[in-house]
Amino acid sequence: MNTQDKLRNPHLSEKIVTDQIAASWIKDGMTLGLSGFTRAGDAKAVPTALVERAKAEPMKVNVFTGASLGSDIDKKMAEVDLVNKRLPFQVDKTMRNKINTGQMWFIDQHLSHTAEALRQEVFGEIDFAIIEAIAITEDNRIIPTTSVGNSAAFVNHAKEVIVEINTAQPAALEGMHDIYELGEQGSRVPIPLTDSSDRIGETGIAVDPDKIRGIVFTNQEDSPSTVTPPDEDTEKIANHLIAFLEKENDEGRLPKTLAPLQSGIGTVANAVFSGLKNSRFTDLEVYSEVLQDSVFDLLDAGKVKMASGCSITLSEDKMNDVFPRLDDYKDRLVLRAQELSNHPEVIRRLGLISINTAVEADIYGNVNSTHVQGTKMMNGIGGSGDFARNARLGIFVTKSIAKNGDISSIVPFVSHVDHTEHDVDVLITEHGLADLRGQAPKERAKEIITNCADPLYKEQLLSYFERAIEQVGGHTPHLLQEAFAWYKNFDEHGTMRERELVMN
Ligand code: COA
Repeated sequence: MNTQDKLRNPHLSEKIVTDQIAASWIKDGMTLGLSGFTRAGDAKAVPTALVERAKAEPMKVNVFTGASLGSDIDKKMAEVDLVNKRLPFQVDKTMRNKINTGQMWFIDQHLSHTAEALRQEVFGEIDFAIIEAIAITEDNRIIPTTSVGNSAAFVNHAKEVIVEINTAQPAALEGMHDIYELGEQGSRVPIPLTDSSDRIGETGIAVDPDKIRGIVFTNQEDSPSTVTPPDEDTEKIANHLIAFLEKENDEGRLPKTLAPLQSGIGTVANAVFSGLKNSRFTDLEVYSEVLQDSVFDLLDAGKVKMASGCSITLSEDKMNDVFPRLDDYKDRLVLRAQELSNHPEVIRRLGLISINTAVEADIYGNVNSTHVQGTKMMNGIGGSGDFARNARLGIFVTKSIAKNGDISSIVPFVSHVDHTEHDVDVLITEHGLADLRGQAPKERAKEIITNCADPLYKEQLLSYFERAIEQVGGHTPHLLQEAFAWYKNFDEHGTMRERELVMN
């Protein structure tokens, strides 16, 4: 490896230090802005060295990122109680447990909001931005690796910057990033992005070289994504969705090229994208956050002509397949900051079809994406709210039951609201699809109960709905005590099923 290829401003080589030295600069009470989005492009060495240090020298820092981290960094930080406050998203079990037992703070934030909050100085300054990079150019631009996330915002708002040059990341990523500074609110111009393939910024993050305190060399691949193959239910959900898109195309509301697609990460997203491979649709575009295996399958199959995201998160097999031939994708891939990939102005302008997963939904179409039984944080809202409210089609998917049928994911009233009924156009479970567009609340309830609820709960939901109309009436009829008793019943008796409760 030639250091000059990586640090093209020769003065920067004086700043090379070890990860332990860089970690030693971090003091108790500081705020860190780490690169990383859905296991991709995360700063790996310095956070790991900081965890090691915290084992001997307990301390607390605030940790801000793009989204979830790989290399078990969230887990390791949680285990040593390193984190005071974490935002905007995480997916780690150990950290989730610390959040839910009140041992650390978590701000569950729309992913497009973090950079704006930094501009508004809501959190105060970032002490250190720690950013993984391919290289730093001669004109002092940090070239990110497999994600952009909030890295540019962290660099702009940090007092000091630590760069991790990761030589395990493919050099061919250089040129794929599109870094655009939105500017201050109040004096901003429209974002000049009118097509998902547009490039409107620079290929790297501009940094004042005096702000770079240290540069650490690393050689560690991203953690691979753990893609679970479609199961029977997720395949059914994908089939309902594709049939719906075909109907929209038949009836002239969507072209054969559809509209740019956004999808959350995970099994359903994979099943949907796999289904699109064999569908009638062509020349598709992806305007999303995470570009996962299935997007590359569709690019390879010639079905997707363009993909814009803010991270590339792949399984191990797919990394081995794609990274050596990354140059082949250069004209068809763009990586942007998450405030651009998730920007309401752009989402509305491009008219996205947005597909995200719910924990539960209610009979009127409100969606809970984050809280189990209304109180325990799962992962966070992520970008789902950025997309759902502003997309042309805000679609939510969920399996109709959880915990072997003891929980219905279609309930009378969700126990926590992330997406209100106003933001949900279509709801899909393995049983069917409810098209909620143009429907008043009571019409929606019928559609959701009939098409989406599991047979185990259909009668119970219908009875609730009919009695609510009879006994209370109103625009959106509810029997509030009974609605929330569904959760109490699960807590106390292990099931939401009324028939079993009577038998008990
Ligand atoms: N009540 C209680 N628990 C429920 C439930 C419900 N209604 N529905 C699902 N669960 C449980 C499952 O049993 C499972 O539990 P386990 O981990 O103990 O096995 C867990 O929730 C995950 O469910 P699963 O069916 O495996 O779903 P998933 O892995 O696809 O995750 C979300 C679903 C909603 C948690 C996930 O998609 C998410 O975090 N979404 C919010 C963020 C987002 O939308 N991101 C995309 C844009 S960035």
